[in-house]
Amino acid sequence: MDHSKTPVFTAMKAYRDRKVIPFDVPGHKHGRGLREYAEYFGDAMLELDVNSMKPLDFLGNPVSVIKEAEDLLADAFGADRGYFIVGGTSFAVQTMIMTTVSTGDKIILPRNVHKSAINALILCGAEPVYMSPEIDSEMGVSHNITLDSLKRAYEEHPEAKAAFIINPTYYGAVCNLKEVVDFCHEKGMYALVDEAHGSHFHFHEGFPMSGMEAGADMSSVSLHKTGGSLTQSSALLVKTRRIDGQYVRKVINTMQTTSPSYLLMGSLDVARKMLATEGYKILSHIIEVAEYARREINQIPGCYAIGHEAEGRPGIYGFDPTKLSVTTRNMGLNGMELYDILRDEYNIQMETGDVYNSLAILSVGDDYDVVDALINALKDISSRFFTTRIDYQKIDLHYPKVVLTPREAFYADKEMVALENTLGRISGESLMSYPPGIPVVSYGERINESVIAQIKLFKASHGVVTGMEDPNADFIKVIVER
Ligand SMILES: Cc1ncc(COP(=O)(O)O)c(C=O)c1O
Repeated sequence: MDHSKTPVFTAMKAYRDRKVIPFDVPGHKHGRGLREYAEYFGDAMLELDVNSMKPLDFLGNPVSVIKEAEDLLADAFGADRGYFIVGGTSFAVQTMIMTTVSTGDKIILPRNVHKSAINALILCGAEPVYMSPEIDSEMGVSHNITLDSLKRAYEEHPEAKAAFIINPTYYGAVCNLKEVVDFCHEKGMYALVDEAHGSHFHFHEGFPMSGMEAGADMSSVSLHKTGGSLTQSSALLVKTRRIDGQYVRKVINTMQTTSPSYLLMGSLDVARKMLATEGYKILSHIIEVAEYARREINQIPGCYAIGHEAEGRPGIYGFDPTKLSVTTRNMGLNGMELYDILRDEYNIQMETGDVYNSLAILSVGDDYDVVDALINALKDISSRFFTTRIDYQKIDLHYPKVVLTPREAFYADKEMVALENTLGRISGESLMSYPPGIPVVSYGERINESVIAQIKLFKASHGVVTGMEDPNADFIKVIVER
């Protein structure tokens, strides 16, 4: 296919050139009703913030330029069908789950899934069978699952209809995706892949295998995270051997807006063109930049940036070098402190900070100058903190046990209980620090000591804890057990 084409973006520009008189919504009418915003961003942006119409096609039932752009998207990623998504990868994840399982069905997933997967289970009523990902106590994070953990989960629940795999985790670890997908298909399960952090995988052999290449049935790819498109734009990819593409469209249309943003869809179109035509060159450069940064960071006293040397450790079959995490526990700094110090004192915004690490994500827009700024800041921070800070809170990560399905817990009677009195109670909320949005405790799980310790640490370190009704997380909503 001709990947130099951008059907949606080209149609948008043609529409703007026609200077159409708008008696349709949105009500700002090409920016005339929102001057301050239009003046700041420039007229083009608001003139193209338009509603669906024949020349621009309809996302819910695409027949012309969106259809052409989605076909190009599918082709670029090695899929049979591609779908533009304007509700973030959360929406793509929910679509994958709602397409393949429903009330009473079981789905196998790693416990470190993003909250969107658990929210999908509330919506559709399927039951989670969690695989424990491999926990790295040095880094204080979970990596990926292994084929063995999938096999164990399947042996205990052979009726499971689907398995959900993260490719890669936030910190860059992947499993042997080909083996995992083959196992799913051998056992008659759908293989769903969350590639929120892997939209670049398909375009360079220096990255782990992509979901579509491994033969997965569906994959959600956050083009907005690492592929260059605008925030909230995402894509869903499907292999139609086991999945009916028309049914996927139906599931999408039950939940997706009828007023999709053309600014988002146009950006998906241009990002796909860039990845398909220049992705290899751009990503080769990013890999070099990332490996340079990793080498430099690993020479700074108190800093560790995990890389390819970790491949073969539990839960790290392969590694995405563009995930540049900095572990500073030997500097006596926790990742949330480092995250705040880098932003407040060095004007550097990291992707996330957790108990031991802060994560920088490198993508199509990065270069040596920005990683040099990070390296220099880390050198300075090391000279301030290394050897001077030794007190450091350690936390044992233990995932809580599931007692109720997310849907049962969501609809059960609940009461507010002070955090320190919640030990042993079943959570009626899903609490997490954001990013990364992986629940510390989720709906229907029994709260254990590790959960309470993590929430206290997030609060003490001024991390952003979200998901609960009490914004301070002093009280948690737990299930009333009779
Ligand atoms: C693994 C994973 N899946 C899904 C999502 C959801 O993506 P979005 O923020 O685009 O909705 C995220 C977001 O961080 C994520 O980390």
